[in-house]
Amino acid sequence: MADLHDQRILIIDFGGQTTQLIARRVRECGVYCEIHPWDISDDVVNAFKPSGVILSGGPESVIAEGSPTIPGAVLSLDVPLLGICYGMQAMVHQLGGEVRAQSSHSEFGYALVDILNQPLLFAGLQDKVQNNKPQLDVWMSHGDRVEALPEGYTLVGISDNAPCAIIANEAQNRYGIQFHPEVTHTVQGARILQRFVLDVCGCEGLWTPGNIIDDAIKRVQESVGDEEVILGLSGGVDSSVVAALLHKAIGTQLTCVFVDNGLLRLNEGDQVMKTFADNMGVKVIRVDAEDRFLKALSGESDPEAKRKIIGNLFVDVFEEEAAKLSNAKWLAQGTIYPDVIESAASTSGSAHLIKSHHNVGGLPSEMRLKLVEPLRELFKDEVRTIGVDLGLPPEMVQRHPFPGPGLGVRILGEINKEYADILREADAIFIDALYAHNLYHKVSQAFTVFLPVKSVGVTGDGRRYDYVVALRAVETIDFMTARAAQLPWDFLDEVSRKICNSIPRISRVTYDISSKPPATIEWE
Ligand code: XMP
Repeated sequence: MADLHDQRILIIDFGGQTTQLIARRVRECGVYCEIHPWDISDDVVNAFKPSGVILSGGPESVIAEGSPTIPGAVLSLDVPLLGICYGMQAMVHQLGGEVRAQSSHSEFGYALVDILNQPLLFAGLQDKVQNNKPQLDVWMSHGDRVEALPEGYTLVGISDNAPCAIIANEAQNRYGIQFHPEVTHTVQGARILQRFVLDVCGCEGLWTPGNIIDDAIKRVQESVGDEEVILGLSGGVDSSVVAALLHKAIGTQLTCVFVDNGLLRLNEGDQVMKTFADNMGVKVIRVDAEDRFLKALSGESDPEAKRKIIGNLFVDVFEEEAAKLSNAKWLAQGTIYPDVIESAASTSGSAHLIKSHHNVGGLPSEMRLKLVEPLRELFKDEVRTIGVDLGLPPEMVQRHPFPGPGLGVRILGEINKEYADILREADAIFIDALYAHNLYHKVSQAFTVFLPVKSVGVTGDGRRYDYVVALRAVETIDFMTARAAQLPWDFLDEVSRKICNSIPRISRVTYDISSKPPATIEWE
């Protein structure tokens, strides 16, 4: 098999909010790509040997002093180039055309682009036709606009507020588009990117789930040899897929450590053991550390302090178990590509990062184990796809995210076993009902929160004075902003009745309708 990394697209990031989406769309075309910040060195560009380059959008103005520029090495490469939004404006500005600040002509959202002629990138693509000319429904987000083209470029498309919405230099295979093909509102967007990477750049689509798995297995086998590997298995998607992949690659040389911290969901520990140890034959050591965690958390009500206690104790327990496996030379981790991009961007100091989740349970560097991170190149959706291909149950792979501190941040204030048990039961009712009503996959994350306040209720002839839970379900793309899901009223009513009827210690159920911002997704 040809190395599936040989054909690769370089994405230069100007700090756009949708740069990762560009990369995901390219991967969906079956082509490997990497995102690098705009200030990477020429040496890195040349060593990368891209089959083509895409320049992302960005929040700045190319005409402002000191604004980000396209690396010189990119403009010297003899490979296809696609500039998107800011990326197109930077091309025009650096190649001798003209970009003007036109705040009164900003275009945000839907726009219609008239296609004047059809170079390879646009041949046959259209959403509508007017006066025999094709038109595209696109999504724009720009203030500045291109007013004059560099030498060698022709005008391909115009919109109301972008006299140069698409430009091309066909002889050099260079294109600029003012709109964003990576977002789904640009109807032909995925096809435009596919046309670019497959037809213009000539890539073949080697980046498929089967090839990704074969390549990862080969690389793990080469680096690990006959040495032993340990992995902290949480039951979350990433560590589960690492476990399945490593098991396939090195079998019994892998030992997983699963720490039950008492803050897991109902039957979660048993499910993890069933899936991995019983069904797949993976070596898993289950550590029952509920008492230790609850004792360490006792009396603590501050959310950040609770997070620290849980994270540090996890590391202690994991290290104790690892010490017993004296032959282990490797530590496996479920690092995925967005983590890699973000830590690279924060070390290079590049502005306008999108911050991701705040993971706890990071493992200590002083363990002196070599790291194996087989998902380092993959986006979450790719991790999910290969997880299913590796034989993991789809419901495990498609699960909503679950925070590292688990129920520890869903029991407000002080944590104890009674609260955790009540919450587990209520949460299972809510989640089961979401599945039963086909709503689970329509929301991005759903869970129950335990409120340690008492409220009066009435059941039969009796008065109840007991705890309150809040249901939370959100819709979000990136978990940075979110809105409360508009779950059907009848559904919420059914869940509320089931919870109050079957859990005597709960007198009241509420539904959290706050957005993020100003609220966050979790309550702590
Ligand atoms: P927030 O509450 O910050 O949550 O809006 C955004 C996403 O991050 C998850 N989350 C965490 N994940 N450790 C984690 O691994 C944490 O301490 C943590 N806090 C929040 C949250 O579940 C949501 O998906």
